[in-house]
Amino acid sequence: MPAQKTILRALAGETLPTPPIWMMRQAGRYLPEYRATRAQAGDFLSLCYNSDLATEVTLQPMRRYNFDAAILFADILLLPQALGADLWFVTGEGPRLSTITDRTGLDRLKPVEDIHETLNPIYQTVRNLSGALSKETTLIGFAGAPWTVATYMIAGRGTPDQGPAHALKAENKEVFEALIERLTEGTIEYLSAQIDAGAEVVKLFDSWAGSLKGEDFDAYAVAPAQRIISELKARHPGVPVIAFPREAGDNYIGFRARTGADCVAVDDSVSAAWVAENVQKDGCVQGNLKSSHMVTGGDALVQETRAIVKALANGPHIFNLGHGITPDADPDNVQLMIDTVRETARDG
Ligand code: CP3
Repeated sequence: MPAQKTILRALAGETLPTPPIWMMRQAGRYLPEYRATRAQAGDFLSLCYNSDLATEVTLQPMRRYNFDAAILFADILLLPQALGADLWFVTGEGPRLSTITDRTGLDRLKPVEDIHETLNPIYQTVRNLSGALSKETTLIGFAGAPWTVATYMIAGRGTPDQGPAHALKAENKEVFEALIERLTEGTIEYLSAQIDAGAEVVKLFDSWAGSLKGEDFDAYAVAPAQRIISELKARHPGVPVIAFPREAGDNYIGFRARTGADCVAVDDSVSAAWVAENVQKDGCVQGNLKSSHMVTGGDALVQETRAIVKALANGPHIFNLGHGITPDADPDNVQLMIDTVRETARDG
């Protein structure tokens, strides 16, 4: 059956008159209804593991806005938790995990086949959503890329420069590479189960790819993505993959061909004109409005949105932010962004 949904058409390489739209972190704290449901769940992790409430928060932005896709509500750090890491969130600060710094820590992790025990409620959320979305809307599943997830598992928290992960890579390459390997296998199983449950597209978030330079980028950003994508393609032919090697800079060039991704998502440190010339020439791209426009709004939001739509109008494009929307964003600015994208495409 030919793909009808706009996102699937863009991912198949079609240049559409209006780019499909969705937004990273579209279900999140900028929405009062999200904050209310999170309070009902108790905390963020309880919300992730409560399939009914996670379904509800995934659908909240779909009711408010006419997005072309819904993204499963979960987190990239649930996989480490399923592998046996302790995980908790400190309000106002972010995630905390038990750390892995040596072979003993690595050996304490559970085998990959055991992850589903913990992650079953996530698959249930995907099944719920698969039945609840309109026929025009695409359901996106996701996972973190091995390097990004490893940076949290090694440091036990988010770090500005991913220093602890770089240090382990330099000092104990064997353990570091074994962790990347375990996460690569776990990510294949996790995403494959999401697809079995009804995810129509999956996205791989490599939020810290930009701190990998030279051969490290090839070994720990490109190679794991290539393996994950080729294995998913073998198991689930036709299911598209979006890769997001955030802040990859020049390494965005050729990332699609090197990994087999159907679409490369780009952050806002690169201009849309540069993306058109260097990345979109090879296929679908996603991005890349600066998320601060969702806070500040106004004419700057309108002008920048128009510029991105126009710069990327001659090839397959999915409109999105360059990174997740922040809690201080104004929900009205999201509507303004969507209206501007669709008006620009209509009026030229
Ligand atoms: O995009 C979506 O709406 C889907 C759900 C989603 C969340 N996290 C929900 C979430 C997705 C796709 C993620 C991905 C994620 N999680 C990434 C990669 C993308 C990126 O932002 O770079 C990373 C690095 C994480 C890890 C993580 N989760 C951090 C560092 C934090 C704390 C920082 C923050 O923004 O608060 C989280 C928490 C988190 N994940 C929230 C949400 C809605 C906020 C939790 C809350 O409600 O308090």
